[in-house]
Amino acid sequence: QLQIQTKNRKFETAKDLYGIFFEDISRAGDGGLYPEFLRNRTFEDSLLPDGYEEKGDGVHVVTCSGWEDEFNNGEGLSYWVEKNKIAPTPIPAWYAEHAQMELERKDTLNANRSAALRVHFEAGGYVYNTGFHGIPQKQGEAYPLYLFAKSDRPVCLEFSIEEDGYQFAQSRLTIGGEGYVRYDTILVSDGDCENASLVIRSQEEGEVLFGFISLMPGKTYNGHGLRTDLVEKLKGLNPSFMRFPGGCIVEGSTLSTVMMFKNTIGPVWERPGNLLVWHYRSYNGLGYHEYLQLCEDLDMEPLYVCNCGMTCQGRRGVLLTDEELEEMLQDTLNAIEYALGPVNSKWGRQRAAMGHPAPFRLTYLEIGNENWGPNYEERYQLFYREIKKRYPQIKTIANTHVEEHGCPVECVDEHFYNNVEFFTENVGYYDSYDRQGPGIFVGEQAVNEGIYSGKLYAALGEAAFLVGLERNQDIVRLASYAPLFENVNYDAWFPNLIRFDNHRSFGIPTYYVWRMFGKNRGKYVVESTQESDVIYRPMKGMASLKAKKALHYRNPIWEGAPAAVTHELMGHVKKTGEEFCLEMPDEQQKEVFLNKMRWADAEKSFVIFGEEDQTCGRFEVEVLVEEDL
Ligand code: AHR
Repeated sequence: QLQIQTKNRKFETAKDLYGIFFEDISRAGDGGLYPEFLRNRTFEDSLLPDGYEEKGDGVHVVTCSGWEDEFNNGEGLSYWVEKNKIAPTPIPAWYAEHAQMELERKDTLNANRSAALRVHFEAGGYVYNTGFHGIPQKQGEAYPLYLFAKSDRPVCLEFSIEEDGYQFAQSRLTIGGEGYVRYDTILVSDGDCENASLVIRSQEEGEVLFGFISLMPGKTYNGHGLRTDLVEKLKGLNPSFMRFPGGCIVEGSTLSTVMMFKNTIGPVWERPGNLLVWHYRSYNGLGYHEYLQLCEDLDMEPLYVCNCGMTCQGRRGVLLTDEELEEMLQDTLNAIEYALGPVNSKWGRQRAAMGHPAPFRLTYLEIGNENWGPNYEERYQLFYREIKKRYPQIKTIANTHVEEHGCPVECVDEHFYNNVEFFTENVGYYDSYDRQGPGIFVGEQAVNEGIYSGKLYAALGEAAFLVGLERNQDIVRLASYAPLFENVNYDAWFPNLIRFDNHRSFGIPTYYVWRMFGKNRGKYVVESTQESDVIYRPMKGMASLKAKKALHYRNPIWEGAPAAVTHELMGHVKKTGEEFCLEMPDEQQKEVFLNKMRWADAEKSFVIFGEEDQTCGRFEVEVLVEEDL
C-alpha cells in the first residue's frame, strides 16, 4: 500500500518545462520530417566543402582542424553508377541504364549550387533515383514533382514511379531551351507502394542538364511541407518549446560546415547545402523559416541555437577569425530580425516574401552548443551583450556556468548522457542547486549507455530523473530529450526518441514517458511525503544502486570538461578505485579539467588524482568513490 500526502504549495510549475530538441542527425531532416523523396536532389552529396580533402578510399580529413572523420558510408559520397557497373552497398541515390551521367561543376543552376547532373540518354535509356531507402506512394494521392533543367534541343522525358517493373504514376515533360527553366508536374499514384524509384526515361537520344529536382508529398502537416505522421508524433508530446537546429551541427567542424541562418532561407533551390557533422549533406529545405512555422503550428516557443564563433571543441574545433566572428554575430542578429522584425525591416520583408508577414515568436536563444572555456566566455559575452541590447525580451541560454566567471547568465543548458543507474541515483541532483543562480535547461538527456538503452527499463530510470526535475522546476525551467528522430536506415546515434522509415514511425518507451509528463503538468509543485509497505527490490545486477550515496556531480565535471570526457567519467564514477584513461584534446583542456577535478575534491563527493606530468594530453586518473557516506 502506498500513501502520498500532499500539503503546502511550494511554487508554480514552469510554463515551458517540457519541450523537444530537433537536430538533423540520423537523417531526421531530408527524407524524414522534411519529406523529400529524392536523395541527392542537388547532385552535391559527393562533394566535400572547403577545408576537406579526400584521403584514399572515401575517407576524408578535415585539413584545417586536424580532426579526422569518415564520410565513406555512402552518404558523404553519393556513388554514381552507370550501366554494367556493379552497384555498391549501400544503394546509391542515382542509377543509369542506357544513359551516361556526369557531374557538371560549372554550368550550375545558380551561384549556390556546386553541381548539376548531365545525362546523355540513348534511345530508351533512363536514370533513376532510389530515394531514402525507397519511395513510398499511396493510391490516389498527388505528388508534385518539379525540376530545373535545360537542353540544347527539345527532349521529351517521361517521369514515372516504378517498383518491380510496375508504373504507379507517370507524366511527361519536354525539356528545351538554352537557360535553365523550371518544369512542374504532378504524379498521381494508382496504387500503394513502399519501395519504388523515380525513373526518368527518354525514348529518343538526347542530352539534358538537370540543375535541381524535387518530389514531395502533396499532403503535409497544415500544408506547411512537413511529414504529417512525424509532426503528429511531436504533437503527442505536448511540447512547450522546440530547440533547433542542433546540437553539434550548429558548431560544425570547419567554417564551411557550421550552420548559418542565411543558408537556410529563401527558395529551396537557392539554399546552399551543409555537410553535417553526422556524415551527410542537408539540402537545407528544412530551414529557419520552416522551424519557426512548425513552432507556430504546434504552439511551441522557439529556442534557436546559434553558432558563437567557434566550431565543435569535442572535435578539436577551430576558433573563427575576428571577421568571421563578426559575420556569425550579424547572422544571428539577422535571424532574430527575420523572426521578430516588422515587414518593413530588411529581414522581416524576407519573411513576408516567404508567406508570413506577421512576426513569428522567438522566445529563447542559446549562445553556442556545448562550448566552454575562456574562448567561449569571451564570445558568449559578446553575443549576450549585442542580443540583449537590441532584444531585451529574448531569454538567453549559456552552455556552461559562465556566471562563475563574472558573465551575466539567465539560464544554463546542462546535458546528461549516461546509464540507467546514473539517472536513478540522481533524482535529487537539483535539490541542492543554488536558488539564487541562473535557471537550468536540461537540454539533452538520455540513457545511452548499457544494455537497457532504448528499452523500458531505461525509460523508467529517465522518468525517475524527470521527477527530480519536476520537483525542482523553480530553477529547472526547460527540459528535452535527445536525439529526437532517427531514420532506421541511417542511424548515427542510439537511442533516439522517434524512429521512422519512409512511411512508418513509432516512439521508443521513453517517448511515452515524455508524453505522460508533457501532458500532465499541474499548476503547483507541492510538498509531499510518502508511506509505503512495498519493498522495492533492485533488479538483478542493480544491487549497487542501494549501496551508494547519490553522487553530487554538479558542475565541476560538466563545466570546462569536454563532453566526451564528462560522459566517460560519469559512466565510470561507480567503482571504488577503478582506473581508466581519458584522452584530453590538448594541454589547455587538460589544465581546465584538472582544475575542475581539484574543485570536486574540495567538495568531498569524490576524489580524483591527475598525473599532470604526463605528456601528449593523455593522462590517467584514479577515481575513488566513498560509499555509503
Ligand atoms: O544529441 C546528439 C548530440 O549530443 C548533440 O548534437 C550534442 O549537442 C550532444 O553532444
